[in-house]
Amino acid sequence: MFTNIQSLFVFNSWAIILPCILYAVYRYFARNFDYWAKRGIRGPKPYIGFGNTLHKFLNQTTDLEVQWIYEFGKIYGIFEGNRPILTVADPELIKSILVTDFHLFNDKEANPLFHSKAHPILATNIEVKVGDEWRRQRAVLFKLNPWDDTSDRKAFVGHANDVFTPSRLRLLLSILLPKSVLNALGVKHPVRESANEYFFSMTRHIIAERKRNTNSISNDFIDLALNAANINTETDSKDEDDQDISATNGKSNGTNGVTNGVTNGVNRKISKTGDSYMSEDEALANSWLFLNSGCKVVATTLSFIAYELALHHNHQQKVYEEVMAAIGSDDKDVDYESLSKMPFLEAVISESLRLHTISIRMRRMPLTDYKLGDTGITLKKGDTIEIPIYAIHHYEQYYRNYSVFDPYRFMPENKDKLVPNAYFPFSLGSRQCIAMRFVHLELKLTLINLILRYLTRNFDYWSKRGIPGPKPMIGFGNILHKFLKPITSLEVQWIYEFGKIYGIFEGNRPILTVADPELIKSILVTDFHVFNDKEGNPVFNSKAHPILVRNVESMSGEEWRRVRTVLSPTFSASRMRKMFVQMRKCVDSMVTELDTRITTTSQSYTEVNIIDVFDRLSADIVTTCLYSFKLNPWADTSANQFVVNVNHVLTPSRLRLLLYIMLPEYMLRALCIKHPVLDSAIEYIISMTRHIIAERKRNTSNNYNDFIDLAINADNNNKKLMSPGSNGVKKGIKRGDSYMSEDEALANSWIFLNSGCKVVSTALAFLAYELALHPNHQQRLYEEVKGCVGTGDKEIDFESISQIPFLEAVINESQRLHTISIRMRRTAVADYMLGDTGITIRKGDTVEIPVHGVHHYEHYYSNSNVFNPYRFMPENKDKLVPNTYFPFSLGNRQCIAMRFVLLELKTTLIHLIMRYKFSDDCPHRPSPTTTVQYFPSLTTTPTVRPGKTCYRQLILNVPRANFPDKYLPSYFNII
Ligand code: HEM
Repeated sequence: MFTNIQSLFVFNSWAIILPCILYAVYRYFARNFDYWAKRGIRGPKPYIGFGNTLHKFLNQTTDLEVQWIYEFGKIYGIFEGNRPILTVADPELIKSILVTDFHLFNDKEANPLFHSKAHPILATNIEVKVGDEWRRQRAVLFKLNPWDDTSDRKAFVGHANDVFTPSRLRLLLSILLPKSVLNALGVKHPVRESANEYFFSMTRHIIAERKRNTNSISNDFIDLALNAANINTETDSKDEDDQDISATNGKSNGTNGVTNGVTNGVNRKISKTGDSYMSEDEALANSWLFLNSGCKVVATTLSFIAYELALHHNHQQKVYEEVMAAIGSDDKDVDYESLSKMPFLEAVISESLRLHTISIRMRRMPLTDYKLGDTGITLKKGDTIEIPIYAIHHYEQYYRNYSVFDPYRFMPENKDKLVPNAYFPFSLGSRQCIAMRFVHLELKLTLINLILRYLTRNFDYWSKRGIPGPKPMIGFGNILHKFLKPITSLEVQWIYEFGKIYGIFEGNRPILTVADPELIKSILVTDFHVFNDKEGNPVFNSKAHPILVRNVESMSGEEWRRVRTVLSPTFSASRMRKMFVQMRKCVDSMVTELDTRITTTSQSYTEVNIIDVFDRLSADIVTTCLYSFKLNPWADTSANQFVVNVNHVLTPSRLRLLLYIMLPEYMLRALCIKHPVLDSAIEYIISMTRHIIAERKRNTSNNYNDFIDLAINADNNNKKLMSPGSNGVKKGIKRGDSYMSEDEALANSWIFLNSGCKVVSTALAFLAYELALHPNHQQRLYEEVKGCVGTGDKEIDFESISQIPFLEAVINESQRLHTISIRMRRTAVADYMLGDTGITIRKGDTVEIPVHGVHHYEHYYSNSNVFNPYRFMPENKDKLVPNTYFPFSLGNRQCIAMRFVLLELKTTLIHLIMRYKFSDDCPHRPSPTTTVQYFPSLTTTPTVRPGKTCYRQLILNVPRANFPDKYLPSYFNII
């Protein structure tokens, strides 16, 4: 009982004591929280123990302060732990604090990273120092150039990085706790000690070296520091001798009685205002500051500028033009004078420093009580003022559309529109960044040299050789033109402007464009051995994909020859005959499908999406003929998935495509930039082929004699050559051996499936489109086909199909007008004289043939934009300019599937034309507003064709104006 009462008593006392303690703690930590409220100054709510510091730590960006300006006005109070801080974002007041009344605010609080607390040496750097101590150091350092290179850049940069990735916890503690507590708790400086030590010992080492070798005068920071330290040492030694030199007024008398402060060793004590000296610790601390700011801070600024220029190629181009205008066209170097003739470069730097403010806040403390303008606020001596630089730079009232990178705000003609004193990336007044001019100089020189020596280093490649060409854009060369223009009229325009040979740039890489037929023939056919090296289409291309790298389109030299030899039989003449029968069956099933759709509808017409129909047909044909694999394309099952995945190939990411074209392979890998085509689409097609190969290997009873059989045989050969024979010796691979690895089979299968599907269906759609627009040509085609096939249900045979000249002419003209493979490239494997042009193509140079440009050049094809199949009729063939028609390329690297494609186009067209009529006279033609997104579709309505019993009319429902541009899949526009 007694125990219970006692315990109750104990409990009761704790119940009273504990809240009292908690209250006392609360009162202690919140003792100042009414500091601003009592003075009528608003601000965000502080938290016990943290004040508002935690907000800053938890909010990654400094938008917080912009938000506070909106919420509380341009003057508001915050707390750091328990310490009140007044934030001032009013430009006029800021000017008073930083400039006009600087003498009252010289006391400042340094960036906590450079901060003294808990570090004996860093305590002495100029950033931390105030008053006369600051003035003394600043006088010593003002003349210096803090740039010094080190031998071990990696270590240097690594340690500099460490400085800028301090421990966030230690940083928070060093902000919140006083020095005594930090020392008592053993909390170290937020930066890793090894990094600090690295910079100290580096400076110590340089100082020691300089002391050893006194011959050279560098007049740099180290010399300045040494001189200042010598004066300091003299002072110390005289102090030891207890000599009073105060009478000399801080000036030393040399042997000749002249004041020089260093060499004469006369008694003096340096302690007066204006004395110029600095201790070695101060030199080390400042060296640490210079090295880090000079390295990481400037590098960050440069990165931001580069980033903005990359995003704004128009500004980048303007900088380039300004630099070129300032330095002249010859290989002149940039001199100091020309730097001042580049206002736009200056504006770019200023705008980047505004938008990406690096030094985001600064602080000042008044040395006496101070009336803050006419605000009615009186700051007490020792109060802290914070100036939120970043927030001011991002405050809409000072900078309209503040988040937009717009260098024009800082152009001389707009400077009077800027709000005064609202821009201070380097601060203002006497404590402005000591290295501001140095940083500006460094930024300008780096950017200019980057532009001249790196980004445009080859831009005179063609002009020096007298070859004209379109003006390249810095960073892109002429590639962006190709990306921005919807279709390739660009190259036709360039041929007119610069002639049949002109130079362009891809990024910084020079490319020679050749549109002269004779020279094209030499490059593609006659001198093929010099141009066997070729650059693959960037969608099919290898870069950064381990399997796709193995496709024949991207291969060169011997490797290409071997794989091409293995693949060629896939499209041999004897196989064409067999494939023709298979194709006919596929086309029949398409017709059956269309008929079914017509008969099952109650309406007088049926709308069919033409792209979908041709996609499914071509998918059916390619899988049947090359893989002996039946898709069941008209069902909405796996066929659909197949078509969807293949379609992804034709809608690659444009950004990744651009990067793929511009960047070298190693960089793509390093930056982990994926292939422009969706991973899942690549994987779908690769695993489908793997699956078919595995099935075929399991069931060996049938001989299909198709691509898969060829691939399996070639892979078997590969394995035979690579594995030891019965005698235990590997046969090894010799030139001319016929083999192909499984990866090569997969990569080529990917090309076959994609080209076989989408490329062919695109060609078919263009054909249908032109026939719909030209009923006269369609009628003639119909009559020729009918003449060949005859009446009744007779099927056309393999022989007759190549005996319809107008069919051939229609296909050729459609391929010319709607060139699918619009450019081709070759790389020279040796120096090569380009005909009698006097131009030598150097080994490694890339030559581009603008196929679409040549097909649309008026000198080769008059009325080149008109669909006129008669140009390709036998009676007109001699009027064609030789070697100006190559939709499938020419020579040894001509499309491997050309015969297959032509057979497919002809077979499909014959079947459609015999049964349907293409027309664009659609009862439901979409209105102009909807046509933009509208895909061409087939509308079928029953109709009667004269002379025949019952035909159905196929109405091609297409927006005429947009069709070609819209329909050409996006990547054909670019590559
Ligand atoms: C209308 C349809 C097609 C057109 C216009 C076309 C056009 C071309 C062109 C111009 C080239 C040469 C590129 C160069 O020299 O840089 C080429 C190469 C190639 N084509 Fe086609 N193609 C078509 C359909 C197909 C189809 C259906 C396949 C496969 C089933 C295919 C497979 C290939 C292959 C593998 C190459 C690379 C040949 C080599 O580098 O040796 N193409 N194609």
